[in-house]
Amino acid sequence: MAKKKAAPAKPALLAVRGITRSFGDRTILDGVDLDVRAGEAVGVVGPNGSGKSTLLRCIVGADEADAGESTLAGTVLDERRPEIRADLAIVMDDIDFFPDLSVVEHLDLVARAHSTPDAEEVVNAVLDEVGLMEVSGQLPSTLSSGQRRRLALASAFVRPRRLLVLDEPEARLDVDGVAWLGDRLVAEKRAGRGVLLVSHDADLVTRVCDRVVRLGTAAGTPDDH
Ligand SMILES: Nc1ncnc2c1ncn2[C@@H]1O[C@H](COP(=O)(O)OP(=O)(O)OP(=O)(O)O)[C@@H](O)[C@H]1O
Ligand SMILES: [Mg+2]
Repeated sequence: MAKKKAAPAKPALLAVRGITRSFGDRTILDGVDLDVRAGEAVGVVGPNGSGKSTLLRCIVGADEADAGESTLAGTVLDERRPEIRADLAIVMDDIDFFPDLSVVEHLDLVARAHSTPDAEEVVNAVLDEVGLMEVSGQLPSTLSSGQRRRLALASAFVRPRRLLVLDEPEARLDVDGVAWLGDRLVAEKRAGRGVLLVSHDADLVTRVCDRVVRLGTAAGTPDDH
């Protein structure tokens, strides 16, 4: 009897090949490969200093790898390219805000800059979802650290995206906030988006991620002199 042919594997939305990065004589990343398919979440875990943030920065083109390449839907990934910026929502840990734009003005700006359809409705829905409605008129400097984190996350959710790249998005969130984030990232996958998640929260990684890439022990620790 003829065997059923297996369905062909979906091509990767994000394909990372051979990313290598050294600082001085310390090699932090040595030929890292990973794929994220549409509708899939991949976790990146490892101790402090193991290179997780460096890997994300090299992937999105915010840092230049010594070797290797990342492609998003077949196009070399560089966050300065408009066609890449349209598809890629990034939440890193070093988000800056304009000091004189309120919460709602930030989200409006991001939504309109990325031509989000029905920007006003989307911004209101996301403000409500992340619990920032009450502080929507406040300036970033007057927000609590968790509220600033929620604003950074909200900025990713008011714009079109095919891939989310998140560096410790759970940092500073309260228990309900982390639970919401887990639900939201699962919903992102269901909507066919890819998620690349660096996190120290094992429960969040288990809940959201289909696969996990583990980076090695922190290079150079403990200090040996
Ligand atoms: N621009 C730089 N110059 C020199 N060393 C750097 C630079 N950026 C990162 N490093 C080093 O590379 C290593 C990896 O840093 P990275 O921030 O990627 O770690 P991480 O896995 O994200 O850690 P954490 O869990 O603390 O966020 C660290 O030892 C760090 O000091
Ligand atoms: Mg980091």
